[in-house]
Amino acid sequence: MEPSAVLSIRGLSKRYGGRRGVQANDGIDLDVLPGQVVGLLGHNGAGKTTLVNQVVGLVRPDAGAITLDGIDAVAHPDIARQRTSIQAQANVPITGLTPRTAIQLVGRIRGGRRRDVVARTQALVDALDIASWADTPSQKISGGMARLTAFCMTVVVPGRLVVLDEPTNDVDPVRRRLLWDAIRHLADDGAGVLLVTHNVREAERVVDHLVILDSGRVLAADTPAGLAASTRGTLTVELDLGARIGPDTAIGWPAAVTPTTRDRLRATGTVAAESAADVVRWAQGQVQIGAVERYGLAAASLEDVYIRLVGPDHAPVAAEAETELQVVA
Ligand SMILES: Nc1ncnc2c1ncn2[C@@H]1O[C@H](COP(=O)(O)OP(=O)(O)O)[C@@H](O)[C@H]1O
Ligand SMILES: [Mg+2]
Repeated sequence: MEPSAVLSIRGLSKRYGGRRGVQANDGIDLDVLPGQVVGLLGHNGAGKTTLVNQVVGLVRPDAGAITLDGIDAVAHPDIARQRTSIQAQANVPITGLTPRTAIQLVGRIRGGRRRDVVARTQALVDALDIASWADTPSQKISGGMARLTAFCMTVVVPGRLVVLDEPTNDVDPVRRRLLWDAIRHLADDGAGVLLVTHNVREAERVVDHLVILDSGRVLAADTPAGLAASTRGTLTVELDLGARIGPDTAIGWPAAVTPTTRDRLRATGTVAAESAADVVRWAQGQVQIGAVERYGLAAASLEDVYIRLVGPDHAPVAAEAETELQVVA
C-alpha cells in the first residue's frame, strides 16, 4: 500500500450473478494521493461504477482491500463514507429546491458553518457560470444544470476523497471546461480526486494519473505523459469525408496507415512519422478527386493510446470534444 494514499485499492474483485454472471472487477489495484486527480477510464460496462460503489460501501467486494484515509473501508463502510464525497452517475433529485438551496443544504448537513457554506456555494456557482440558474426551481433546470448542481453538492464541503462518476455528462462544452478547471482546483486544494470518465481527450488536461479499465481489469496505469510516450514518433491522420462518401464506403488508406476510428464524416488512423510525407501526398490526391474534404496530421494523442489498448470497437465518441488537429489542407 502507498503509505500516504487517501485511497488505496488492492486486488479488488466483484462478480455479479454467480458463476455465469459478470466479473465486473477483476483484481484491481489503484491509489489516489492527496492533491492528485486520478482518472478512471473505460468504456461502458468496464466496471467503473462497480469500483466506485465498493469504495463508498454500496457494493460489497468479493475479495480485495480498500483503505480510505487509513481506514479499512470494507470493514467500516460508514466511516469510509463520511470521509468521501461522491457524485453518483445518476443525479440525486432535488425537487422543490433551487440549485443554491440544495447545495447549501448539503453543505450544512456535512457540517459546514453557515457563512462558509454560503460563500463556498457562491464561489462554485460563479466558477461554473450557473448564477443565472442558481435560484430557479429545480423542475425548470436543464439536465446539464442538474449535473453541475450535483457536482456543487458533492464538493461544497469536500471529503478527503472526492469521487466523481461521469461528472461532465449532459454538460455543455463551455461549462464542461469550467468544470474540469473546478476539478483541478479541488485537488490543488488538497483533496484526492477519483474521476470516472469515458472522455479521454478532456480528461487528459486535468488528470495526474490514468487507470484504464477494460472488462474489470486494469489494462494500463500511468501518467498521461507516460502513456503518450508510447506514441512518440507516431502521428494521427484525420480525414473530413464530407457528405459525398457513404458511411459504408471503405477508405482506401495507404498501407502505412493503421485505421483507428470511422464515423459518418470522419476517419482517423495512425502513421509512423517517417511515412507522413507519403500519406500527405496520398491525402492531397484524395482532396483533388473530391473523396476527402480536408485532412490533417497531428501528434498522436492519448485517445490513440486508449483505442490501441481497448480496441476500436470501444473508441470513445469524440464528436463533442474540440479537436486539436492542425488542418493542413
Ligand atoms: N447490479 C448489477 N447486477 C448485475 N450486473 C451488474 C450490476 N451492475 C453492473 N453490472 C454489470 O457489471 C459490469 C460492469 O458495470 P459497471 O460497473 O456499471 O460499468 P461502467 O460503470 O464502467 O459502465 C457490466 O457488465 C454491467 O452490466
Ligand atoms: Mg458507470
